[in-house]
Amino acid sequence: MLRIPRHTAATLTLLAALSITAALPAADTATEPAEKKPAESERPNVVFAAGRAIERPKRLAPRPERSAEERQSWIAELRALYSQSPDKWPTPHVDEGVEWRELGLLPEVVHPESNPFSQAKADLGKMLFFDPRLSGSGQIACASCHDPDLAWADGRVNAFGHDRFKLHRNAPTIVNTAYYDVLFWDGRAGSLEEQAHAVILNPLEMNATEEVVVERLNAEPEYRAAFANAFCDETITLDRVAQALATFERTIVTTGRSRFDAFLRGKHEALSDEALAGLDLYRREARCMNCHHGPNFSDSKLHNLGLSYYGRKYEDLGQYQVTKLAEDVGRFRTPTLRNIVATRPYMHNGLFELEGVLNMYNAGMGTLLPKEHQLDDPLFPIKSPHLKPLRLNKQDLSDLRAFLETLSEPRLRIRPPYLPGLSPASEAPAKEAETSDSPT
Ligand code: HEC
Ligand code: HEC
Repeated sequence: MLRIPRHTAATLTLLAALSITAALPAADTATEPAEKKPAESERPNVVFAAGRAIERPKRLAPRPERSAEERQSWIAELRALYSQSPDKWPTPHVDEGVEWRELGLLPEVVHPESNPFSQAKADLGKMLFFDPRLSGSGQIACASCHDPDLAWADGRVNAFGHDRFKLHRNAPTIVNTAYYDVLFWDGRAGSLEEQAHAVILNPLEMNATEEVVVERLNAEPEYRAAFANAFCDETITLDRVAQALATFERTIVTTGRSRFDAFLRGKHEALSDEALAGLDLYRREARCMNCHHGPNFSDSKLHNLGLSYYGRKYEDLGQYQVTKLAEDVGRFRTPTLRNIVATRPYMHNGLFELEGVLNMYNAGMGTLLPKEHQLDDPLFPIKSPHLKPLRLNKQDLSDLRAFLETLSEPRLRIRPPYLPGLSPASEAPAKEAETSDSPT
């Protein structure tokens, strides 16, 4: 048996990639050395923590691979099934009570009545998003951690905040955040406006105050004019800054240029055989539709995947920090899977690569079992019942990945905007252009 070190993402991912069982200790499992444990057969199947039953994970062998002929006829069957309109696709494997929605093309973004769209407001929001003067130090812009060249994330395990403070969570992409009901990994913000407010004032992130931001922006006549264009007068407030940022963010969405979107529009050859088999796995055997459903591949709800690292170095109690409810310990909001290959590394702690994530789902995710002193602990985290060992074989895992790859869109090159008082004056009249560097 392996004693699993838990300190580097590389180790975790490597172990997860090596075998399904090795992926279990990488997440929430008991930490005692293997030799102290009774033999597998002597252990009870169910363990209790504060009266709540926790099922010990079963280690199941992968299902047998299909022969080449079997696979060929299976793919032909799937082609026929999935060439129909989505309402005729096979029923997905979701558990009772899950209000799932079919995958599909994203609808137009709805801007809230309290902050209606205008192009002037979105343009102002774009300037503010790239402007480091929104941070106390004058050094960090939203775009420092949500960089358009890195799929609007930062490519790092954890983001660096004020004074290069290492934040304990991974910076998610802002793409398609317009479609979530709640924001942040732990769901603590109910709107993009609220979210922008929070990050500007957070001492660990942008560490600014309303006075500092307003004073700096007010000093620039062009900013005053831009606020006057976006709102009815040139008054600058943190509320208006947040509104403009949110309006801009609602324009940063995927626009139906992925292979899967082409497939949904009836171009059925857009999915390879592998990706098609992956789509079917995603909707059925792999059970992903229990949570990543609907056009944005997210139910906007919070779940415990067994990644709370309860009582350990990487502990993050997720939604519990917001609600203080025992059942919310370790719950995080389901992220979108659109553009997923571009937004590595993954999960709220950024500790995983895609291969590791898929191996962990295949194992049903790690199950944290209570230690002696935790048997009466009412906060002991309980993993979502939607996660079960899947028995996917190597071919299945590679098909599933092939499907996820079809959710990528060709990148838009975003030119950073002109910033009054910071950009050279010669750039002032520059027209912002967004060009696609690989046409679909
Ligand atoms: C220092 C790096 C950093 C900066 C600067 C930063 N963010 Fe973030 N952002 C993060 C991290 C980390 C998270 C996740 C935090 C969490 O969930 O607890 C996040 C989360 C978000 C989310 C929620 C995404 C989701 O999926 O729910 C949005 C939207 C967002 N940021 C927008 C902004 C805006 C707008 C600004 C500028 C006002 C900004 N961020 C500045 C690091 C940063
Ligand atoms: C019980 C609900 C649930 C199910 C079922 C589920 N997921 Fe997730 N998924 C989540 C949540 C919640 C997170 C974020 C967890 C965290 O950060 O701790 C997540 C994260 C991910 C991530 C990382 C995304 C990122 O941006 O970091 C990927 C990739 C992913 N899931 C793919 C899948 C696939 C593929 C399946 C099916 C095999 C699946 N998920 C099944 C809820 C679920």
